[in-house]
Amino acid sequence: MARTSSLLVALLAAFDSAVAAQWKGEVKKVDGVTYQCKCYSDNACWPTTADWKALNTTVDGALQLAIPPGAPCHKKFENGTVSTFDEAACAEVKANWFNEQWLTDHPIANLWPLYTNNTCLPTDDPNSSCTRGMYGVYVVVAKTKAQIKAGIDFARKRNLRLIIRNTGHDFMGRSTGYGSLIINTHSFKDVKFVKKYSGPGDWTGSAAVVGAGVQGRELYRQAFAQKPPVVIVGGECPTVGWGGGYIQGGGHGPLTTIYGMGADNVLSFDAITVEGEYVTANAYENPDLFWALKGGGPSTFAVVVSLTVKTFPEIPTAGTTININSTHTNDTEVFNKGFHIFHNLANHYVENGMFVYFEVSPGRLHIAPIVGPRMDEKKLNEVLKPLFDQLDAAKIPHDRHTKAFPTFFEFYIDMFEDEQPNQNSVVGGRLFTHKDLDDNADKVADAILFASNHPTPETIGISIGHIVDPGHGVPVADNAINPKWRNSSSFVITNILMTGLESWEEKKQLEDVQTNVVGKKLREAGPDGATYVNEGDLNEPNWQESYWGANYPKLLQIRKKWDPKGVLYTKTTPGTEDWEVLDYGTKLCKKVQ
Ligand SMILES: Cc1cc2nc3c(=O)[nH]c(=O)nc-3n(C[C@H](O)[C@H](O)[C@H](O)COP(=O)(O)OP(=O)(O)OC[C@H]3O[C@@H](n4cnc5c(N)ncnc54)[C@H](O)[C@@H]3O)c2cc1C
Ligand SMILES: *[C@@H]1O[C@H](CO)[C@@H](O)[C@H](O)[C@H]1NC(C)=O
Ligand SMILES: *[C@@H]1O[C@H](CO)[C@@H](O)[C@H](O)[C@H]1NC(C)=O
Ligand SMILES: *[C@@H]1O[C@H](CO)[C@@H](O)[C@H](O)[C@H]1NC(C)=O
Ligand SMILES: *[C@@H]1O[C@H](CO)[C@@H](O)[C@H](O)[C@H]1NC(C)=O
Ligand SMILES: *[C@@H]1O[C@H](CO)[C@@H](O)[C@H](O)[C@H]1NC(C)=O
Ligand SMILES: *[C@@H]1O[C@H](CO)[C@@H](O)[C@H](O)[C@H]1NC(C)=O
Ligand SMILES: *[C@@H]1O[C@H](CO)[C@@H](O)[C@H](O)[C@H]1NC(C)=O
Repeated sequence: MARTSSLLVALLAAFDSAVAAQWKGEVKKVDGVTYQCKCYSDNACWPTTADWKALNTTVDGALQLAIPPGAPCHKKFENGTVSTFDEAACAEVKANWFNEQWLTDHPIANLWPLYTNNTCLPTDDPNSSCTRGMYGVYVVVAKTKAQIKAGIDFARKRNLRLIIRNTGHDFMGRSTGYGSLIINTHSFKDVKFVKKYSGPGDWTGSAAVVGAGVQGRELYRQAFAQKPPVVIVGGECPTVGWGGGYIQGGGHGPLTTIYGMGADNVLSFDAITVEGEYVTANAYENPDLFWALKGGGPSTFAVVVSLTVKTFPEIPTAGTTININSTHTNDTEVFNKGFHIFHNLANHYVENGMFVYFEVSPGRLHIAPIVGPRMDEKKLNEVLKPLFDQLDAAKIPHDRHTKAFPTFFEFYIDMFEDEQPNQNSVVGGRLFTHKDLDDNADKVADAILFASNHPTPETIGISIGHIVDPGHGVPVADNAINPKWRNSSSFVITNILMTGLESWEEKKQLEDVQTNVVGKKLREAGPDGATYVNEGDLNEPNWQESYWGANYPKLLQIRKKWDPKGVLYTKTTPGTEDWEVLDYGTKLCKKVQ
């Protein structure tokens, strides 16, 4: 039996490499290095119209031409091969350009246009050109597992760049890829709640089986509708794809300091491998894949279809918002002092089980909110007394207010705000540990302020902060997230704002500033810290160590087992060392010598 199957495997492998040889893309030489690329539309190995038609039949008609969301405002797409103008649809695009839910429901839209090359934007001039930019070519808008499998099989066999696109939320552009076949998983919206989990592992509490397309707020809402209501660990953002990239990168949120990361709470995954096999990954079956899918990087080990996660009892929650901005002061010194007072207490907040979300840009600090789980107004004000006393003693003008709610859900809906998509920025970030704050709180605050002011004389920065510690009072889960998270105190995303009109060279220069000027300051201020793969710098130096720490070698092994040939790819995920996107951010190629 064992012999037969190994013979079969050998035969299949031989067949596979014969097929692979037939569908090889171009060979490129760059700076003396030879690369073998995936197949693109200008190569002989690109599927013919008949091949695409056959795929469309296999996926029951779910294959669509990938058309950018702004196309209805333009007469022609791609030199007139497709007529796209539609006045009503154009008006709808314009009305929704800053509406996250609308964009996430689109088959291919990316929320951050830097990664689409700012192509085909909404316009009043229908004559202006609409090109594909860095979007893919076709999209399978999948409604069934079999359609996802068919898309994976086609991309693997034909050596195409494969993109899994759930919400298009990704700050790092990882759900967009030039010339790719896209599989859209956003329609997998089923959620089922169970009162008592009885599957593999130790957990016997309540749980939910959640489809890969389910988003944050809709999951919170459904959890709240249970009797009795429950909560899950989701993000602060209402539209992030909870079951997609969020969990696979780790997933922090307002309840993380008391309940752990999103990925700490997963009990089982249903997934499809790059070989097109349906697999279950949990404590009993495929435990290595189970471990890696919990924080080892999105679009790296398999395509997730659904997952089972712990749910927890609802809890009373209180929140405080604080503003310091030009309404209160224009004095930079006073403003900076206020920021230091607030941020230097990061360890104090997480040691009390709290989470804090804040935004800081030149002269504006918006803390919205400080989350006090299991607290009422009195308790939260008591815990925040050191903050209030110091702000008052230093005469920092500001406004603050605290509110309490009987449940987390009511608190969340009231006190968290929606974000604005379709901004251009180069992103970086850093996670600071308790030790960093103990050793160097002022230096950490200064580094964040530097990132949030004028990283270059011509640019403005804005930072999004999360004070959070998934190692506080929760049993530490064995999974792929960087162990540094377990001592975290403050995690910040830094942005250098752009216009979107920058040339390629100017973009590269701003990326360099993010990595080597802003990033350098963050690393120096937080030498004990780390970075977060879902909200970080695509050019992070030493990214393997920085994103995963001691877990990296194991992740690399697991990647080599589950996707040895690189069917999936996103930059700075385990096992992608030999791959580069060449030709001005377009063709994905592998170093061969
Ligand atoms: C405004 C905003 C707020 C955010 N807030 C938080 C937060 O509070 N906490 C937090 O931890 N993170 C947060 N994030 C980061 C977020 O976790 C990542 O952007 C995450 O990758 C989003 O996943 P998605 O599936 O929604 O997005 P997509 O852009 O659709 O996908 C992101 C990545 O996941 C892969 N992927 C998606 N679905 C699957 C699947 N089914 N199988 C395999 N791979 C898949 C994609 O290929 C891609 O690489 C936020 C991001 C933004 C832009
Ligand atoms: C796939 O088939 C459906 C149903 O016949 C059709 O509407 C769609 O346009 C086809 N897709 C492509 C890319 O031709
Ligand atoms: C569109 O036209 C440009 C310039 O003529 C050409 O380089 C490009 O390949 C064309 N694209 C398509 C899809 O035909
Ligand atoms: C678009 O082109 C058409 C003819 O090619 C011309 O009549 C029209 O004025 C142009 N519209 C704009 C807004 O430039
Ligand atoms: C990206 O945009 C630049 C500037 O408009 C353009 O020169 C380049 O060809 C675009 N790349 C792609 C792949 O569309
Ligand atoms: C400044 O703070 C006030 C509250 O005191 C708030 O109403 C206003 O929107 C804030 N301004 C900015 C630019 O954030
Ligand atoms: C700060 O400057 C702005 C713009 O000049 C002004 O409107 C505002 O009143 C100033 N704020 C304070 C507190 O003086
Ligand atoms: C976290 O900090 C504690 C105490 O400071 C230390 O013992 C532990 O090793 C740290 N863990 C990690 C993963 O750095």
